[in-house]
Amino acid sequence: MIGIFGGAFDPPHKEHIRIAQAVKEEFSLENVVFLPSGNAPHKCLQAPFSLRVKMLQSALQGAFPIDQVENTFTEKTYSYKVLPLLREKYGDIAFLIGGDSLLAFEKWCHPEEISKICPLIVVPRGEDDLARLSAAAEKYARLWGAKILISQKVRGEAVSSTMIRAKCALGMPAEEVADEVMNVIKQNGLYSEYADYVNRVKSMLRETRWRHTCGVVLAGLKINEKIGLPFEKVFLGCLLHDCMKHTDRINDGVPQDTRGTKVLHAFNGAEEARLAFGITDTEILDAIRYHTTGRANMTTLDKLVYTADMVEELTRDFPGVEELRAVAYEDLDKGFLLCFEKCYESLLERGIPIYYLTLDCYNCYCKKE
Ligand SMILES: [Fe+2]
Ligand SMILES: [Fe+2]
Repeated sequence: MIGIFGGAFDPPHKEHIRIAQAVKEEFSLENVVFLPSGNAPHKCLQAPFSLRVKMLQSALQGAFPIDQVENTFTEKTYSYKVLPLLREKYGDIAFLIGGDSLLAFEKWCHPEEISKICPLIVVPRGEDDLARLSAAAEKYARLWGAKILISQKVRGEAVSSTMIRAKCALGMPAEEVADEVMNVIKQNGLYSEYADYVNRVKSMLRETRWRHTCGVVLAGLKINEKIGLPFEKVFLGCLLHDCMKHTDRINDGVPQDTRGTKVLHAFNGAEEARLAFGITDTEILDAIRYHTTGRANMTTLDKLVYTADMVEELTRDFPGVEELRAVAYEDLDKGFLLCFEKCYESLLERGIPIYYLTLDCYNCYCKKE
């Protein structure tokens, strides 16, 4: 039996290869064929097909074959259409999927068709509950006669391609990716759409503040895994939030009453994002503007940047930060509230004057009836 390992592979990472090897062994597969997705119905791909294949070739070094059939589809590619072609080509096949995909199997296009074509090999991820996966497998077996094999030996680690792309965009090392793949990424300028913004912000900040900024981008994207805001909003909101931290230059449009205070850089940064970086998206501008003060009725992006700013993993290291982080990654609303309360208390303790928007925020979210 041949295992079919489909994915965007944007980019392929070390964990993909570890999983392929381990599944091959556990289920005594003849081979595992990597199947980079063409136009996947749900994913917004950032690297073109040919370069994702090139990265895969560099990652696999011939250890596993790559099937490029999905590139021949001009329409969107669905598993129920591609798998029959692969069965014709390879004979006995099994389709590798993650635990999360199994739980969402009902929402796939024609799961009943897929169930007839070949067995599924499920690789549980991180904290996936095996009992829950088994229950789902039994249900699909009953409904559609699906043959579902759940791996008992392999656990996929939660490696996020979005996070890898963000690291590349920030010019950070990404240890999840093999050096050979990183070379292809660099040589072809992949994931560098925001290089101009990144370089400019970096040049405006001191080293530690830049590190903090990278941390905020990564924490923001991690929080966003449960929320699903557009990548660009999260990336740019976080990237630009402190861009005016180290300057005396004050932009037009910055409120007079912020001058000389700790909240100035947020308002000044929003104006800089608008005037110098050409950001027109008001949600991004607001998230930058209110990242220090908060405000009443915050948008999700407001809360996300505020919270990521406080819990990021690269420079934030105050007592209790780990608990805040854990809550924030799980539930932004709760995480935001904890972060805001902590800041508010600290302002009171230190006798720092409280800006009126912070008071609005407190009255909106914290005041007990
Ligand atoms: Fe800030
Ligand atoms: Fe910050």
